[in-house]
Amino acid sequence: MAAEPVAPHLRHFPVLLAEVVAALVKGPEGAFIDCTVGAGGHAAAILAAAGPDATLAGLDADQRALEIARDVLRHFGASVQLVHRNFRHLAQVAVTLGIRQAHGILIDLGLSTMQLAHHGRGFSLHDAQSLDMRFDEDGDGTPASVVVNEWPEEALADVIYRYGEEPAARRIARAIAAHRPITSAAHLAAITAAAAGKRGRIHPATRTLQAIRIEVNQELAVLTEVLPVAVSLLRPGGRLAVISFHSLEDRIVKTYFQAESRDCVCPPGLPVCACGHTAQVRLVGRKAVRPGDVEVRQNAASRSAKLRVVERL
Ligand SMILES: C[S@@+](CC[C@H](N)C(=O)[O-])C[C@H]1O[C@@H](n2cnc3c(N)ncnc32)[C@H](O)[C@@H]1O
Repeated sequence: MAAEPVAPHLRHFPVLLAEVVAALVKGPEGAFIDCTVGAGGHAAAILAAAGPDATLAGLDADQRALEIARDVLRHFGASVQLVHRNFRHLAQVAVTLGIRQAHGILIDLGLSTMQLAHHGRGFSLHDAQSLDMRFDEDGDGTPASVVVNEWPEEALADVIYRYGEEPAARRIARAIAAHRPITSAAHLAAITAAAAGKRGRIHPATRTLQAIRIEVNQELAVLTEVLPVAVSLLRPGGRLAVISFHSLEDRIVKTYFQAESRDCVCPPGLPVCACGHTAQVRLVGRKAVRPGDVEVRQNAASRSAKLRVVERL
């Protein structure tokens, strides 16, 4: 599949780019893994900063994203290997590519601008063509249309509440069940908005669509799975950087990084350590890095980003 040209206004701007490069590139050369290569923006900047002896393996679950990355990264030649794979299979990908120890690993979660803009994927509130939402549209995962149209109302309400933190989840699930079959993301957004009522600055269906996308792609489960694998693939001094876009993701990253940076993870109050846990990483910076005002002005999609970084001991 050849990459379709991407209109400039639909191009994905890599978030916290300078911060990611500064965190991961420590000198000339190195082996890097970009678990969410997307449009290749972070990958290109990492390779440019690390120099001609650096290599990068880029994964993406979305075949269309990979085609764009292939085009963007073509001048790095054989330094780049791109793999159409969900990062939940990172351990197998590393074995296949012969990567034993990486200098830097990046996970930039969520959606790219192209995925949001491309009608026919079901990611956008305005997409009247599709209700799919799978990152891997050729994969065997459950599309959003099945979750929305076939799941019991109770289970749907639980997803919207848990992954969307949506207070009106029960009312929204009732409205969805009453309007089945729902044919597109725009149709789902209209029914959700009518049930939720107008509040705040974000579209009233944003949380519900986010929740269904998280369920469809098992986003929190795959994030929880990949973090220990990524840490295990780092060489001593190697770094893992994760950019998250909502509090559910960030909580998983923060909790894991904090636990893995401690020598003992016993519950408080035990007189002696019973867990035998030893720290695997050190935290690089105590707080998450947020985009500055200038970046948010230039790229509104960056506004909720949080970057956390650890270094392998
Ligand atoms: C925010 S974009 C990454 C943008 C990229 N850093 C850049 O500079 O262009 C996130 C990408 O991660 C991919 N993705 C999300 N979850 C994934 C997963 N579990 N495995 C592989 N790719 C995933 C999406 O398909 C999307 O292309």
